[in-house]
Order: sequence, then C-alpha cells, then structure tokens
Amino acid sequence: MQLQWSSELELGIPVIDSQHQRIVEYINSVEQANHDQEKMRIILNELIDYTISHFAFEESLMEEAGYTFAKAHKKVHQLFTRRVETFTTRLDAGEDITNDLLIVLKSWLVNHIKRDDKDYSDIVKANLHAATTRTKARQGTWFNRLFG
Ligand SMILES: [Fe+2]
Repeated sequence: MQLQWSSELELGIPVIDSQHQRIVEYINSVEQANHDQEKMRIILNELIDYTISHFAFEESLMEEAGYTFAKAHKKVHQLFTRRVETFTTRLDAGEDITNDLLIVLKSWLVNHIKRDDKDYSDIVKANLHAATTRTKARQGTWFNRLFG
C-alpha cells in the first residue's frame, strides 16, 4: 500500500514539508520497483543520498534555533541512516529487501515526523520567522546560506 501524504505529517515549515514529501515519494518508488533488483539499487542509493542531505539540513535548522535536543535528534538520524545502509549490503548479496525495507521506512518516517520532528517545529518556526524579519536582505548570514 502506498504511503499517503497527509496534513498530519505537516510541520508547517514549507521547506521541510516538501523534503518530507519527497521522501514519501521515494518510499513509494520502493514499492513501484516491484522487486526489480536493479531498480531497487538505484532507488535505495538515491533515497539514502537524499535522506542524508535532508537530515543535515534539518540539523542545521535545529542548531541555529538552539533546539535543546538537537544532539539527540542528530543521533536518531545517524542510527536510522546506518539501519537503512544495512539494506545495501543485503541487496548486494542478492536478497529481495522490498518488504523489510518498506516496513522500516514507512513506520520510521511516520513516527519520526509525528514525534521527533514535531518537537523541534515550534522553535525552528519562531527562529525562521525572526531571521526572516531581521536579516533577510543581508548576505552571508546562516539564513542566506540555507535559503539563498
Ligand atoms: Fe528528523
């Protein structure tokens, strides 16, 4: 069953929401690969790359906002990345990882967004808002680095 994007998964931070939607699309492509090992390899590599850059982006927003649990959140990202990377090894060994991968991805992403990401959303939103009003026009600030 395809994972449906819903307002329940929205943080109200458009840049993050669209990255999360993109990850949902990647998860759905795992299903659409229909057990084709070559397609799966391409999707898994792209999914890992995209997720790693998304995590880095999220982490910089959390750090800039002074979010108390930024370190713990980063740890959760690292553990998840390692967990997904183990699927590469299994795929290389010729295993059909489709079902196990889908279970991990679907349950992890939904829980992570609803619980861990929701937790940082207020402080990050407030910080983004403050930064927009204060320094949008200025060059070289962290805001411009991330959004410029
Ligand atoms: Fe996260």
